[in-house]
Amino acid sequence: MDPNAVKTELVLILDYGSQYTHLITRRIRSLSVFSLCISGTSPLKSITDLNPRVVILSGGPHSVHTPDSPSFPAGFTEWAQANGVFVLGVCYGLQLIVQRLGGVVKVGEKQEYGRMEVEVERNTGIFGSKKVEDKQLVWMSHGDEVVKLPEGFEVVARSQQGSVAAIESPARRFYGLQYHPEVTHSPEGMETLRYFLFDICKVSAGWSMENVLDEEIKVIKSTVGAEDHVICALSGGVDSTVAATLVHKAIGDRLHCIFVDNGLLRFKERERVMETFEKDLHLPVTCVDATEQFLSKLKGVVDPETKRKIIGREFICIFDAFAHDLEQKLGRKPTYLVQGTLYPDVIESCPPPGSGRTHSHTIKSHHNVGGLPKDMKLKLIEPLKLLFKDEVRELGRILDVPQGFLKRHPFPGPGLAVRVLGDVTQGNALDILRLVDEIFIQSIKDAGLYDTIWQAFAVFLPVRSVGVQGDQRTHSHVVALRAVTSQDGMTADWYYFEHKFLDDVSRKICNSVRGVNRVVQDITSKPPSTIEWE
Ligand code: XMP
Repeated sequence: MDPNAVKTELVLILDYGSQYTHLITRRIRSLSVFSLCISGTSPLKSITDLNPRVVILSGGPHSVHTPDSPSFPAGFTEWAQANGVFVLGVCYGLQLIVQRLGGVVKVGEKQEYGRMEVEVERNTGIFGSKKVEDKQLVWMSHGDEVVKLPEGFEVVARSQQGSVAAIESPARRFYGLQYHPEVTHSPEGMETLRYFLFDICKVSAGWSMENVLDEEIKVIKSTVGAEDHVICALSGGVDSTVAATLVHKAIGDRLHCIFVDNGLLRFKERERVMETFEKDLHLPVTCVDATEQFLSKLKGVVDPETKRKIIGREFICIFDAFAHDLEQKLGRKPTYLVQGTLYPDVIESCPPPGSGRTHSHTIKSHHNVGGLPKDMKLKLIEPLKLLFKDEVRELGRILDVPQGFLKRHPFPGPGLAVRVLGDVTQGNALDILRLVDEIFIQSIKDAGLYDTIWQAFAVFLPVRSVGVQGDQRTHSHVVALRAVTSQDGMTADWYYFEHKFLDDVSRKICNSVRGVNRVVQDITSKPPSTIEWE
């Protein structure tokens, strides 16, 4: 998506590494204003090219006194002044403003962390909706302290300890909050942001998924030439489905999708997703049954990394063959490949300055099993790359992707291979796992818990234990149940089921799945575990 194509004024966040930076981006979007986040040390041209109406300098873990502390580029202040741009510094961002515009920040004697009361001293500018002496609770997190303001600035609020909590220079259109208005621990923070954006900066709202959809379609139509063909690998997940549906709306059947049954899918998954693709979304999809191809390569393989590599390689071979078949059929090579990359993936691949992290594509690469056939030189279309997951779901809703589909739990690219420990072809491990998983997930749905749980699944353990079923000794398999709550999968907690629920599920599994005589629950969080077992 082209940020300049969006018809609302842009609020640009310069990121200095605060854990809350992306929350600012999301909060502003929730006010129907388009907001983007780029590195706080971006060159001036990257900032001016985006033509923002407002720039927010984020918080960060640094001190302005450290020699290499990150800052905005030379010429930024002059550019903002000359172009009527409003600037708001939050926390470290406020201290940057003070220091760069000629004030003084010193290493704080009264460090302030956590919930704090601040009092309004002037009901001008940013606190124009408040009265003098109004108090509010806010979330502070700073060590350094402002002791002298730059020329033309005023203190507009102070903490109960007397330190500067908010400053402004309405004439220069520079504002600063020493606390974090974006977090829920600052209950009036959203009201302050709203007042700042709409009453002070006079930003016009209009960022909505309907608007995004129209813009996206225009951009795709103008990018993809009239004779060009596009391919897309569907995983059965929300992101690739929404991306493909969007591109299909723009260019129709010049989009060619492929869905690969690698033999590692869940119970009836292939039938279920193909029905959604064809009946609900009218997507042109070729379904390739590659079960044999995958399972024969995986036979006897127990090492998880080797399993992943084999699966990745086979996927690429299949896409390659698909693209070549298409070339034969169409008489020309497909030109573009659609990918369902989301904004968090983009942000994660360019961490903020001073974070000590380098870009994390390698960590994520195993999640991108789809991979690209290397010699194909396809150009990428990533229509979701500026959107967060909930925005993608909203876009999917507008595109009539069924609601049940949009709320699906995540499912890993290597499929059940990361849920059968050891050799995936041992006995009938995959069939057992499919049945157990289906009973578990269906029970979760019946109990109305599916949307509360972030991800749930069953795991096949390559061990047998002795049991007794119908007066017979058995020597059967153990399966584990895993259900977690999480925000983004980076950290997770195991879900506390009622005993009655677990009792029912365990009984159902042992009574209806041959080869299982023991059910256990995984009660570890991530870390120290991961979500999948492998
Ligand atoms: P872990 O097990 O790493 O998983 O804590 C975190 C989340 O990522 C999913 N996952 C994958 N998704 N391809 C994917 O598309 C993969 O290779 C992959 N491995 C893990 C996992 O299901 C969980 O949601």
